[in-house]
Amino acid sequence: MSNTGASSNFSTSTQQKMSLFSHGALYKSLAILGLVLFLFYTILRNPSYQLQSILSKFQEKWPASTPAAPTNISHIVFGIVGSVNTWKYKRSYIESWWQPNVTRGYIFMDSAPGKEYLPWPSTSPPFRVNEDITKLKGYPRYSNKIQLRIVHTVLEVFREGDENVRWYVMADDDTVLVIDNLVDMLAKYDHTKYLYIGTNSECTQNNFEFSFDMAYGGAGYALSYPLMKAISKKLDGCIERYPPLYTSDSVLGACLADLGIDRITEKGFHQIDLHGDISGLLAAHPHTPFLSLHHLDTIEPIFPNKSQSESINHLLKAAKVDPSRILQQTICYDRLMNWTFSVAWGYSVHIYESIFPRSVLRKPLETFRPWRRNAKPPFFMFNSRWIFNDCEAPHAFFRDSIEKNEDQIVTTYVRKSPRGFPACSASGNHSAESITKIMVFSPINMRNMEVERRDCCDVMHNVNASVAEVKYRTCEKDELIA
Ligand SMILES: *[C@@H]1O[C@H](CO)[C@@H](O)[C@H](O)[C@H]1NC(C)=O
Ligand SMILES: *[C@@H]1O[C@H](CO)[C@@H](O)[C@H](O)[C@H]1NC(C)=O
Ligand SMILES: *[C@@H]1O[C@H](CO)[C@@H](O)[C@H](O)[C@H]1NC(C)=O
Ligand SMILES: *[C@@H]1O[C@H](CO)[C@@H](O)[C@H](O)[C@H]1NC(C)=O
Ligand SMILES: *[C@@H]1O[C@H](CO)[C@@H](O)[C@H](O)[C@H]1NC(C)=O
Ligand SMILES: *[C@@H]1O[C@H](CO)[C@@H](O)[C@H](O)[C@H]1NC(C)=O
Repeated sequence: MSNTGASSNFSTSTQQKMSLFSHGALYKSLAILGLVLFLFYTILRNPSYQLQSILSKFQEKWPASTPAAPTNISHIVFGIVGSVNTWKYKRSYIESWWQPNVTRGYIFMDSAPGKEYLPWPSTSPPFRVNEDITKLKGYPRYSNKIQLRIVHTVLEVFREGDENVRWYVMADDDTVLVIDNLVDMLAKYDHTKYLYIGTNSECTQNNFEFSFDMAYGGAGYALSYPLMKAISKKLDGCIERYPPLYTSDSVLGACLADLGIDRITEKGFHQIDLHGDISGLLAAHPHTPFLSLHHLDTIEPIFPNKSQSESINHLLKAAKVDPSRILQQTICYDRLMNWTFSVAWGYSVHIYESIFPRSVLRKPLETFRPWRRNAKPPFFMFNSRWIFNDCEAPHAFFRDSIEKNEDQIVTTYVRKSPRGFPACSASGNHSAESITKIMVFSPINMRNMEVERRDCCDVMHNVNASVAEVKYRTCEKDELIA
């Protein structure tokens, strides 16, 4: 708008006189002058304007309230979909991230928990029993009533009527969320707009069957308060509109699409429509804060020699110490040995006996399988790597301890097992088999300040030593990781 330019010219031309006014008086007169100019300008351009609409326009441009305080955990309400029968198996996952008296929200059950579950633990989200959905007009048409219950939970969590909510985050009972990162991610967005934030499945076939465009509920997704309010009025009608085969997430995605709202993708959410060992995926996390993991019982424990529940607590322990770095991939080289170190902070380190650029290592090693046994390639929504020779097979180390000192964090990673390949001869036969432990030194970060940061690192390793050290530092300008 042209008045923006006019006001900036105005302020430069009056700079000399500024000191003559007290600040308060100056701002007052500027505000009045601005208002007069604005009214003049608007009336001149639109003579037919009613005063009422001018005023409402004015309020839009300069909202009366001060800019909203940054979004924090208190502004989020979580809606978790659970069920009484599986609760005892999922409880440890929910309690790994739930913070009693800090996180707000509910777990919705298909029926009231029996005596054996009461009194309900204060370490878990309070439970709610889902409304009777059999009375919904759309009910008879749905072949999968559970899906209907799940999508209806969106409406029910809104009906709880919590106050001062900016975001609703929906998740399953086998979803683990990284709360600090979730808050920082949501704080980037304008919660007063209609926003739908999530991600799709790792598997092409799942997206093909359900939708490429919906947010997958297991990964977790966020709806801004105004959007939640809008959709809660339309949901029951929408449920009637869509065919019986739709899943809860695809019904919601379709309802939102019909309101004109498309998903915003945040790649830190992870649906994990996968089987087997996902360490290859986690070792190459995209350069974005890690937000969630799902399907913990359909995959192997993510740490060797630990149950899945122990593994999740172990991972989240590091996430609490430095949420901005958890799982972030940082790569550096030992040029004397022709080795590449790829660190997934707080989780694993891989040593390759060859020099690989970041463009290669950011592709996950395909240690996992797609969701469906009968899936046809291309399986995944991303490029992946296979091991074809000795040089491409990493030595894998998993995080053991974590220690925070005054000025740095020290994470140590220990070897899982012998690599089982001869040394990479193309790069000079420098075996890394003697390395049993890796210590990674990273600086302490303030949250919210590291969004554009890029970590680089240096390897320190004495020939024949069994411990290698990796020191984090800020990348130099235009530093190549290759
Ligand atoms: C969150 O922000 C609100 C202001 O909107 C403030 O009153 C509240 O104390 C903050 N809570 C936390 C936990 O930081
Ligand atoms: C939460 O707060 C209530 C009352 O303020 C307290 O009685 C309860 O022990 C707290 N729960 C936890 C797990 O800290
Ligand atoms: C696995 O854990 C057990 C007990 O916690 C321990 O005795 C054993 O040494 C561990 N094995 C490996 C390979 O770390
Ligand atoms: C590193 O590998 C390259 C081939 O990729 C080789 O030419 C070079 O001699 C090796 N350097 C050492 C120190 O082994
Ligand atoms: C590495 O070892 C293999 C077999 O042991 C040998 O054939 C090859 O010449 C060696 N390469 C280098 C660069 O030393
Ligand atoms: C490393 O070990 C080899 C064989 O064990 C030995 O010959 C060499 O002197 C050692 N190098 C150093 C720097 O200790």
